Amino acid sequence: MSISNRINRSKRPLLISLFVSLIGFSGMVLGDKRDKDSDDKVTGNLKSAIRMIKEGKQIFRHDTFGNERFWGGQLRLHEAIAGKDQGGVGSGVSPKTALALGLKVDVNRLPKSLRKQLKNGQVDLDAPAVTLALLKLDAVVGVKGRFDINGQISSMGITCALCHTQVDNSFAPGIGRRLDGWANRDLNVGAIIAAAPNLSPFASLLGTDESTVRTVLNSWGPGKFDAELLLDGKAFRPDGKPAATLIPPAFGLAGVNLHTWTGWGSVAHWNALVAVLEMGGQGNFYDPRLNDDQKFPIAAANGFGDIRVPADQDLVTAKLPALHMYQLSLQAPKPDDDSLDEYAVKRGEKLFNGKANCASCHVPPLYTEPGWNLHTPEEIGIDSFQSDRSPDEGYRTAPLKGLWTHNKGGFYHDGRFATVLDVINHYDQFFELQLQDKEKLDLQEFVNSL
Ligand code: HEC
Ligand code: HEC
Repeated sequence: MSISNRINRSKRPLLISLFVSLIGFSGMVLGDKRDKDSDDKVTGNLKSAIRMIKEGKQIFRHDTFGNERFWGGQLRLHEAIAGKDQGGVGSGVSPKTALALGLKVDVNRLPKSLRKQLKNGQVDLDAPAVTLALLKLDAVVGVKGRFDINGQISSMGITCALCHTQVDNSFAPGIGRRLDGWANRDLNVGAIIAAAPNLSPFASLLGTDESTVRTVLNSWGPGKFDAELLLDGKAFRPDGKPAATLIPPAFGLAGVNLHTWTGWGSVAHWNALVAVLEMGGQGNFYDPRLNDDQKFPIAAANGFGDIRVPADQDLVTAKLPALHMYQLSLQAPKPDDDSLDEYAVKRGEKLFNGKANCASCHVPPLYTEPGWNLHTPEEIGIDSFQSDRSPDEGYRTAPLKGLWTHNKGGFYHDGRFATVLDVINHYDQFFELQLQDKEKLDLQEFVNSL
């Protein structure tokens, strides 16, 4: 073996290892770069997600989608709010009446001086002029007053927050900080709309007179609205009770497939439908299922399944992504632990997942089914009136998180069960669960803890 050979041989592993480590090093550099690229992308995505959520919050709270044309222009609801002394009609809506109708006041919009006057009882809560002042301050949740240069109210519109926001009552009952996404079960939407001087747009769609429309609207009561009325014209159930449904919360919806009580579609679908068809905003909307003239005679006759406006007049479509993001970002709030018996909650959880079999539909931690979360009326032992009014004719498994925030107005889509215990009694009978009284109470405690 020559010397050179020996050197070569001894160098070879070194060279090889150098080569290998070079490859390794370049791989590391490349990998680092790739990671950095994707990190940058993630950071970019996060930034845009946060921007969208902020935008969505503004839309949810403040956007009318141009529906002043409907609420002000056609119904002239602002005139009823103002009253004749303020250039409107009738006696006007005082702050007392507004609060009694379930409207909420955002305390953060009230100047310090006004808060002080309110605390000292120096504000006339019987004066409609004060309601107008609150509207001018943009303090009435979900209602947007429009004022002309003389300070006279000239129109009004509504936002999503009207029905899907509560306040924490921290200042006074009905006055506090906003709780976005909470169902406003105090709000008497029907009575508010019924106060409008002109109900002919509803009357002509429904093929009836204004006084019948008023009767229907006044039949709803607090916490309810009928999103299907102007699609199918059904105002009352076969048993004579109003066809309106409860306002659900708009939080805790991430991961939930179908939305609304009867599973009309995704959050994005429903947001577009509501903005255009329910709130009277200006935008495009497409859902050919509404062309079914048997199920949706009014929608079909009026072309609600395909609403087109020129692109420069579409005040809805561009807002859907941010609005969607905001909805999905709203977490269901947890109840105060002190309000619950933790041992009963634990026992209730066991029953929920075991003997009572609730978790077969309300799958934790979504508390609705991952996937196609719809059931026939027979499967849950109730009538098909409301499910027949929807495209897929089912009832959506209600996601139960945050249920404690909407215990006014009852449970199930129409509030037919006054308490959670009544719901449990229904399941106990229908599924023959043979729950003991104490087990039912534990189950109730668990459901209230979600
Ligand atoms: C006049 C009251 C009212 C207004 C205003 C309103 N909603 Fe609703 N919302 C309801 C009612 C009632 C339902 C249930 C409808 C049904 O099941 O038929 C509902 C259902 C929903 C749902 C489904 C919740 C779930 O559990 O699946 C979402 C999401 C929603 N609304 C978002 C919005 C958004 C976003 C806006 C504004 C564009 C809005 N809503 C405006 C009353 C209202
Ligand atoms: C077969 C599926 C199924 C089973 C099993 C089931 N649920 Fe439900 N649950 C539903 C559906 C669907 C709804 C919506 C009904 C409606 O909208 O009218 C619902 C609604 C509810 C509501 C009312 C929610 C609201 O917002 O008003 C409560 C509370 C509830 N269920 C609790 C339970 C409990 C507790 C059990 C076990 C004893 C249980 N569920 C078993 C499908 C089911």
